[in-house]
Amino acid sequence: MEIIDHKMITVLALFLLSNAFVLMTQSQPLSITDENQQENTTGTIRTYIVHVEDPVGNKELLKDQDFESWHKSFLPNTTLDSGEPRLIHSYRYVMGGFAAKLTHEEVKAMESMEGFLYAWPEQQLAGATTRSPDFLGLSEWQGLWRTSSYGTGMIIGVVDTGITPNHPSFTDDGSLPAPPLKWRGFCTLQQCNNKVIGAVAFQGRTNPSPEDDNGHGTHVSGTAAGNPVYNAGLLGQARGRAVGMAPKAHIATYKVLYGPGGLGDEGDILAGINQAIRDGVDVLQMSLGSRRPIPLDQSSISVGSFGAILNNIFPSACAMNEGPTPSVISNDAPWVLTVGASSMDRKIKVTVRLGNNMELDGESGYQPENYNSQEFPLIFPGSSGIQGAETCEAGSLDSLDVQGKIVICLAGGNSGNTDKGEVVKAANGEAIIIVNPVNYGFTTFSEPHTIPAAHVTNADGDKIGAYLRTWQNPVASLTFKGTQLGTSPAPTVAFFSGRGPSLNNGGVIKPDIIGPGVNILAAWHRQVVQDPTTNIAFNFDSGTSMATPHLSGIVADLRNNHPAWSPAAIKSAIMTTAYTQDANGNRILDDATGRPASFFVMGAGHVNPDRANDPGLVYDMQPIDYVPYLCNMYGSRTTSAFIRQRINCRYWKKETAEQLNYPSIAVSLQAGETKTIERTLTNVGGAETYAVSVNAPNGVNLVANSTSLVFASTGENQGLSLEFTNNGLVSPGEFWEGSLILNSATHTVWSPISVTFV
Ligand SMILES: *[C@@H]1O[C@H](CO)[C@@H](O)[C@H](O)[C@H]1NC(C)=O
Ligand SMILES: *[C@@H]1O[C@H](CO)[C@@H](O)[C@H](O)[C@H]1NC(C)=O
Ligand SMILES: *[C@@H]1O[C@H](CO)[C@@H](O)[C@H](O)[C@H]1NC(C)=O
Repeated sequence: MEIIDHKMITVLALFLLSNAFVLMTQSQPLSITDENQQENTTGTIRTYIVHVEDPVGNKELLKDQDFESWHKSFLPNTTLDSGEPRLIHSYRYVMGGFAAKLTHEEVKAMESMEGFLYAWPEQQLAGATTRSPDFLGLSEWQGLWRTSSYGTGMIIGVVDTGITPNHPSFTDDGSLPAPPLKWRGFCTLQQCNNKVIGAVAFQGRTNPSPEDDNGHGTHVSGTAAGNPVYNAGLLGQARGRAVGMAPKAHIATYKVLYGPGGLGDEGDILAGINQAIRDGVDVLQMSLGSRRPIPLDQSSISVGSFGAILNNIFPSACAMNEGPTPSVISNDAPWVLTVGASSMDRKIKVTVRLGNNMELDGESGYQPENYNSQEFPLIFPGSSGIQGAETCEAGSLDSLDVQGKIVICLAGGNSGNTDKGEVVKAANGEAIIIVNPVNYGFTTFSEPHTIPAAHVTNADGDKIGAYLRTWQNPVASLTFKGTQLGTSPAPTVAFFSGRGPSLNNGGVIKPDIIGPGVNILAAWHRQVVQDPTTNIAFNFDSGTSMATPHLSGIVADLRNNHPAWSPAAIKSAIMTTAYTQDANGNRILDDATGRPASFFVMGAGHVNPDRANDPGLVYDMQPIDYVPYLCNMYGSRTTSAFIRQRINCRYWKKETAEQLNYPSIAVSLQAGETKTIERTLTNVGGAETYAVSVNAPNGVNLVANSTSLVFASTGENQGLSLEFTNNGLVSPGEFWEGSLILNSATHTVWSPISVTFV
């Protein structure tokens, strides 16, 4: 039995009891203040997303123009006093409604109009851009690609900062087929080919160039579906093949994020998704979101993803990078695959040797050749008390003598790690040691520094701190050891990966899955450093942004193999075959704490593409199955807006998220309460019998209504119910974990269970 101190806002304790994992919080989840909530000052004009019913008439016969005229009929008049048109986008595919410039009062006046459903003010979303812009690491993670079908004929719609079409990752070597007949999209770039089949940008009422000037969209596209590029790398450190997860899939680019910060308005994001659905993509790849939790009915990603599943398109989105703070997670709707980030078993190593002979392993992408591992004095500018010196911000070292010394800087603050290296270099420092603050834990980055550098964990930082405090004239040396494979523990969950429990989705475990998202090599829009070893632009980047396209590419491979599977079935296949143990057979660790990761940190676990290809059984759902859930959370108007039909919730049952046919199970229990949770399994394998086993979370008596499920044929459904009884042995406010496992001779179908005691 072990207890952890989750050093952030919530104190979590994790107990390991037989097979059941348990998580408890000693305080309520953090409540998020709505920093973007603006006053509804009378007369302030903002862009609202307005949901209305579809125009009457046969939808097949209506033109986009008819939708636009209908949408305009809701506006008080077509222009603002300035003469600017009010309507920005009219949506037909992603949702029924429009984006328009309106005041709060004008929206209020619209509410009584026949056909109005609901409206919300748009916000700006951002790419899940990394903590530091430039990373260096190793070549991609190859083993798991080999058995996939490369996604031939699939179209991945990338909603991002655009693409660099002439990059070798996206050239057409003649081996790709023409786009499938269903493709209705177009390309506003000259270099489109059978790899990049569509490219269009949305920015207000304009359509700028979809070319990428940020790098994020190019990187994400390359990870999802880039061609194999041999000898990819940077600064000679990465030698190997860079290739997307679905290298034979087509890419369609929808540019909606702009500038170095990669920011986009939700009206434009919906316009991009609207176009992707119209064009006929198979997968929506969305590495963007809000940095604070937002309700599902007021999120372009969640609304847009529902539009996607109504059209049999798979929505894949990032959990964002606000970890390790609990409950700051985005894109957390039950109909979205919400992806967190894992680290891999690869480090570009540099060893720090302290004057007391203690050795600590860190990382740096810059590995100077023939470096003389000499001792230099160590200095921690943070102890000077100068503002910004702790994190080595620009100017903060000016009054300190760091010349010829190894300078210790905390990661974070207002600068990236490579920026800190530049500051130390400018002050004539010899080298830099970047130390993680407590909440960055064990995640280290191998970045293209320009001076000798080592990025070390918080735990190693503590050892350096202890040495500094107890030794006079402290010294250290650095030894560069290059690329190391098979490092352990791996995989782990990156500290920044967004964590549940979600406060906005009504109670589904999020994230759903984790995939590689630390030091990922992929295409970039330009060369990041002067590199004598290659002239092809690659970069290493980290974030849930980098994890998500791994999943999107895997989804394209799976859809190619299983064209009849619904988006929910594919998601189930990915989740029920995920693994929760690292390469050493231990539970996957959370980098933020170095302790076992809970389901609110890693979801169902780490993606395992080969097994996802043959899951045996799936938990399937159709869009209409969300009606009882949406009615329960929002009522008739919002449910009608999601479903694109008039729904009167009075005539529907209401259900909590617990009863969704979801591949993971989240249940809340009051004192003395008994709850029955139902699930339906669909056989996607052959005739088989599955043994049902449950690992009960602590505090729960858990009983399944059958001990085995017998499937005689493919496509057959079998129901299973699980009765949860609070046995009174744990206190309100605690979370405990367990699992449901269905085992046949050839398949294991695994579901995490998390019980919250209220
Ligand atoms: C502001 O307007 C929005 C959208 O119309 C509404 O949902 C919200 O309740 C309003 N807030 C206040 C403080 O009036
Ligand atoms: C549009 O309507 C608003 C409010 O109803 C009004 O203040 C404005 O003068 C109108 N503008 C035009 C061009 O009619
Ligand atoms: C168990 O419950 C499910 C869901 O209610 C039902 O479909 C199934 O038939 C039940 N199984 C048995 C053996 O009663």
